[in-house]
Amino acid sequence: MDIENNFKFPQYLSELNVYHGNMADLIPENDFQLYELASPLFTDYAEKQRLIKVPFNATLTKVNDGLPDFPDGTVLVKTFFYYQDVQKPELGKRIIESRILQKNNSVWNVGTYLWNETQTDATFIESGYNTSVNWIDVEGKPQVIAYHVPNSRECAACHQSDKEIIPIGPKLRNLNRDVIVDGISKNQLIHFQHLGLIDGFNIDEIDNLPAYSNPDISLEERGRAYLDINCAHCHRDDGLADDVDLNFDYDVPFVETSISSSKDKISNQFSTGKMPLIGTSIIDKEGLELLKNYIDSL
Ligand code: HEC
Ligand code: HEC
Repeated sequence: MDIENNFKFPQYLSELNVYHGNMADLIPENDFQLYELASPLFTDYAEKQRLIKVPFNATLTKVNDGLPDFPDGTVLVKTFFYYQDVQKPELGKRIIESRILQKNNSVWNVGTYLWNETQTDATFIESGYNTSVNWIDVEGKPQVIAYHVPNSRECAACHQSDKEIIPIGPKLRNLNRDVIVDGISKNQLIHFQHLGLIDGFNIDEIDNLPAYSNPDISLEERGRAYLDINCAHCHRDDGLADDVDLNFDYDVPFVETSISSSKDKISNQFSTGKMPLIGTSIIDKEGLELLKNYIDSL
């Protein structure tokens, strides 16, 4: 699909006033709020910071437990970085890109900013970029990957719904989790209600997307949550792969998903690295093990 941005992104990220002080510290300005997802997308072990800004005097409004309504002027930012050493974050990090979704006159605009080597600012790019990234993983092993910053068409491949750009992560069921605020654990939706970011509703009405990394949750729920956040942006009824008979959306009843009749295809496509179609360059080992166990259990 074609990108129909109606907002002109400034050349430098600093002009969007997302961060204050030393930009590399990733300290958000007061009008940006951190958010966390119950189940996030796997992207080659990159660390991610997610921020939302809702215009002053406006709120997100609940529709159901999926995406809320976002007022014009909403900005969503996802910044990708790697710690030099995952076990020693104090050794520093390399920030790669900050992806933006900006809602203007009902249209979501997509853009990404590539951080400079000195990590003082980032520049708007539309045509994609490849860079090699090194880090030390959780087991203390050196890793290197060919990181790909997507071009605008690639953003649209995952973020489209009926040929329009939409956000993916901030569905109410995926925001419905506990977060630590000033040292205290709180439900994130209640926290957002206190901040006036979202309208008032009873959060008991909202389902919750399980955290697929939590071993205490049933295999079935973890498997479904993994497929939802890693595959369903394309494999749902209005996504890029809508002609494939697979719907991985968590709120679609299991019988309508075709998961049980496509067990071999799913394992093969995933274990050979053919799927996800774009967005990763290496296989998510933990994800593969989870998916295999889940599919074997069916
Ligand atoms: C391979 C699929 C894929 C591609 C390509 C992709 N995204 Fe996303 N993006 C996702 C998923 C899935 C999420 C939600 C999960 C998460 O945040 O971990 C997301 C989240 C985001 C967010 C946070 C708000 C939201 O929608 O959840 C922003 C902003 C964003 N993407 C912008 C971009 C931009 C800009 C591009 C292109 C430069 C892009 N994305 C390319 C899949 C993709
Ligand atoms: C960026 C979009 C995108 C993402 C993300 C994605 N897919 Fe796909 N998938 C497609 C498209 C398009 C096709 C059909 C064309 C092809 O096979 O390349 C497809 C085909 C498939 C098929 C083959 C179906 C058949 O009948 O042959 C399977 C199985 C599959 N995907 C599983 C997955 C799984 C599992 C994930 C997540 C780990 C995933 N896909 C993520 C776009 C995507």
